Amino acid sequence: MKRYHVTTFGCQMNEHDSERIKGMLESLGYAQADAREEADLILFNTCSIRENADNRFTAHLGHAKRLKSERPDRIVGVGGCWAQSVKEEVFARFPFVDVAFGPGQVHKLAEFLTSDSITAQGFFEFEGFTGHLPARREREYQGWVQISVGCNCVCSYCIVPSTRGREVSRPAGELVAEVERLAQDGVREVTLLGQNVNSYGRDLIAADHATFAQLLARIDAIEGIDRIRYTSPHPKDMREDVIRAHSELSSLCEHIHLPLQSGSSSVLKRMRRTYTRERYLDRVALIREHVPDCALSTDIIAGFPGESEEDFEQTLELAEQVGYDGAFTFAYSPRRGTEAATLADQVPHSVKVARLERLVEVIQRRARERAERFVGRTLEVLVEGPSRTDPSRLRGRSRHNKVVNFTGLGAPGELVQVEITGATSQTLTGHESMLMRAGT
Ligand code: 5AD
Ligand code: SF4
Repeated sequence: MKRYHVTTFGCQMNEHDSERIKGMLESLGYAQADAREEADLILFNTCSIRENADNRFTAHLGHAKRLKSERPDRIVGVGGCWAQSVKEEVFARFPFVDVAFGPGQVHKLAEFLTSDSITAQGFFEFEGFTGHLPARREREYQGWVQISVGCNCVCSYCIVPSTRGREVSRPAGELVAEVERLAQDGVREVTLLGQNVNSYGRDLIAADHATFAQLLARIDAIEGIDRIRYTSPHPKDMREDVIRAHSELSSLCEHIHLPLQSGSSSVLKRMRRTYTRERYLDRVALIREHVPDCALSTDIIAGFPGESEEDFEQTLELAEQVGYDGAFTFAYSPRRGTEAATLADQVPHSVKVARLERLVEVIQRRARERAERFVGRTLEVLVEGPSRTDPSRLRGRSRHNKVVNFTGLGAPGELVQVEITGATSQTLTGHESMLMRAGT
């Protein structure tokens, strides 16, 4: 039996694509290898959001090159956004690579692997969805569903529009049927994925039209789905209907990831984000009005070209004011072919790093303060398995997307009630409420 090994870089989209790739390979009769050395097919699912991903990736590719020279019949494939952004250049730079494919190109990879004459190196443009292929899920009670691909925004720092193309939504009926199948397989928590989930459906024709809020309601109605999450919405498209859904739909979790990028309206303008600081804060106020206990997380970029000290201080101030429950912070890095890479006034590396440190301090302090509100409460936790730091304890996630380490008896995939006794910026601690367990 042939064996495969997949290394995944980057975002949840890529994790999702890799699951599809694994599902496809297993349906083609491949088995997963524990180590790259043991694999006949070595795949990399790449990301180009951050420059250092490229460097890390180059080191991994060096390993694949050595393995290929030991056994030239091994196949080395490179997929994902980075592959898409450099295309045939992959083969010029890394001649031992056999196949390169864009994001979501799982079907084409399958065709490549099943054709009996692998003579020439091939690159496949992306098209179509991965949604129809069987997925191999990492956790049987959690599933991911890609609701759209591509993005119609033109954020000036972002490589996605050029690598993933224009936004295309999958028909709502098809998505509902997919989630019903997942629920029948034992999935309790589903995460809906898209570059801009709340513009979902605008490209669909009347017969299968649904807004994102309507799609959420249809998925909420599916028997067996206890938790719905989604990532990421765009602040410009965050409307009241989706916000209200968080208080109206019992499965929709009390957590919204709302990427900010910058707290300065002039930086936001040059980022082409199409909202201002005020409009963003207005969305936050609307969320807090309808879902007071909602956890809020975000993405912030420090050191965008032309970002002045005053601009950056506006970001710090906003982070202080909002009080995020968590955030992903990035130092701006120029991406090939993006508008921002050509802007004058690139911020020196040392300044970016210093700003990032100041930002992380505010984010963590506020997250810790926010987490304190959970101490003394009993939260519903989806058990994931043993705690990473102490295997005698369990680890799971609250509806607010907080990692909870706790003592208890719950099995992976089970929903348990946990009394929260402590909080840090990243995690909560507690013990399973046996009282509730006895009562259920
Ligand atoms: N530099 C730094 N961060 C970036 N992101 C996207 N492109 C860049 C870039 N060129 C960040 C954004 C986005 C997250 C997924 O990655 O914050 O929301
Ligand atoms: Fe990139 Fe902006 Fe689209 Fe997000 S919304 S994928 S940052 S272009």
